[in-house]
Amino acid sequence: MTKAQIRQTYDRIAHWYDLIEAIPEFLGVKILRRELLQRASGKVLEVAAGTGKNLRYYPKTCQITAADMSSAMLEIARSRADGLGLDITFLIMDAEALGLHDQSFDTVVSSLTLCTFPDPVAAILEMARVCRSNGRILLVEHGRSDRERLGRWQDRRAERHAARVGCHWNREPLKIVLKAGLKVIDARRAFFGIFHLIEAMS
Ligand SMILES: C[S@@+](CC[C@H](N)C(=O)[O-])C[C@H]1O[C@@H](n2cnc3c(N)ncnc32)[C@H](O)[C@@H]1O
Repeated sequence: MTKAQIRQTYDRIAHWYDLIEAIPEFLGVKILRRELLQRASGKVLEVAAGTGKNLRYYPKTCQITAADMSSAMLEIARSRADGLGLDITFLIMDAEALGLHDQSFDTVVSSLTLCTFPDPVAAILEMARVCRSNGRILLVEHGRSDRERLGRWQDRRAERHAARVGCHWNREPLKIVLKAGLKVIDARRAFFGIFHLIEAMS
């Protein structure tokens, strides 16, 4: 899928997204979000923030900027933030070309996105560029299972799945982070090796 097609897909499914995503949430993503986001501090940029599912988990002291290229997804995030009484800056922006200054955030967060970006290494490099040195890049992702039979099952269906929803579910999030040259501080897998919690710095 091209970026324009990905944006159109998310604009179209925005109102259904939370319902569709309820299954991975139930299978453990919610727990990973809660655990990882407690590590955020200071000025935070959330890249491809979607409907704002992470917003409730940030420490109250964080100043949050949430970016996404789908305005329909961000509209839902905006009402979620209003409901939570949070003051958040929203930006329509491409993760692979962030129009933000170098080293301007203490923490950069992204969740369930490396499967979707056409060039996930470019997106990680952008996250690293806008994060201050010694800042943190926090990721909750999903990818190819390290249980071989399950991983091969994902491989066989990967192309069909990506053509339908733009999600490459057999990517390897940790390898993408390492390919972008980040230092990994903490990395853990959950749910049959499919979900990832990653804390990294540039
Ligand atoms: C699977 S959703 C994840 C949303 C949210 N991060 C979450 O954890 O629920 C993927 C999100 O990435 C956004 N997205 C995809 N490609 C993007 C890009 N190149 N730049 C910015 N956002 C992008 C989509 O609009 C969508 O909101």
